[in-house]
Amino acid sequence: MLQRMEFTQLWPDPGTLEIGAQVGLLGPTGRAASRLPFTVANFVSSIDGRASVQGRSGPLGDDGDKAVFRALRGQVDAVLVGTGTLEAERYGRLIRDPAAREHRLDQDLRSEPLLCIVTRSGSLPLDIPLFDEPEAEVIVFSGQEIRVSGVSAQVEVIRVDPEQLTFAAALAHLRREEGVRALLCEGGPSVFGALLREDLVDQLFLTLAPLLAGGGHAPTIANGPPLPEPAAMHLESVLERAGTLFLRYARAT
Ligand SMILES: NC(=O)c1ccc[n+]([C@@H]2O[C@H](COP(=O)([O-])OP(=O)(O)OC[C@H]3O[C@@H](n4cnc5c(N)ncnc54)[C@H](OP(=O)(O)O)[C@@H]3O)[C@@H](O)[C@H]2O)c1
Repeated sequence: MLQRMEFTQLWPDPGTLEIGAQVGLLGPTGRAASRLPFTVANFVSSIDGRASVQGRSGPLGDDGDKAVFRALRGQVDAVLVGTGTLEAERYGRLIRDPAAREHRLDQDLRSEPLLCIVTRSGSLPLDIPLFDEPEAEVIVFSGQEIRVSGVSAQVEVIRVDPEQLTFAAALAHLRREEGVRALLCEGGPSVFGALLREDLVDQLFLTLAPLLAGGGHAPTIANGPPLPEPAAMHLESVLERAGTLFLRYARAT
């Protein structure tokens, strides 16, 4: 169920709207290409560009950010997340509210998004709450053998030759074999950096929190080697709530 919360839209068309209206424009089912899901990423950042405070993103996000986070999760077929984030944020069930799961079924979505993980090392944080959830569906693309016996979650491991383990290959598999039309990347910065290098990001939802975090070595939203050239993005909308800015960008065509 989309949470009711008012935001001020600053651009385009200034006015008031609810977050459901903003995120609803995602249109997850209609935008997928035939070979790849429509892929959006969602991040929160401090004004000085930091993506975490003492190793967690939680201190950066306010109620509005959490509403965007939930609204995005509510609309996608699958969520992609890195092992670093799974562990740091202690992931559990993706949609906790039974009414929200019902709402998804009414929208012709599976009751909870499929959770996707790509790991080259095969090292998974199996002690996080997610793996204790019998209803959680997880797909892991791994460059190494993984033993997942003993977890309650439904985990499918797809072993991939390390040479062929790319996000493009994983996303193509999700589109082809799992019918994933809309994919939400929740990070972290290493995974997002890799997605950018493979040119797989269609849209970015960026929450700019009115905070300064300092710490020149703390991660930004994208880690790893730079792109050969900066990728141009088109500003789709700017929302404000309680001093926090909600920026939405689409790949420039
Ligand atoms: N501000 C925000 O919105 C936000 C969002 C999410 C996370 N975070 C923060 O980000 C931090 C975690 O981020 P992170 O960058 O350390 O971890 P991450 O991006 O969540 O996960 C990194 C892992 O992904 C795997 N991976 C698979 N293919 C990869 C590839 N091609 N390139 C890079 N990694 C690949 C690697 O595991 P293998 O070595 O096994 O391949 C790698 O260790 C936490 O502090 C979290 O709180 C912030």
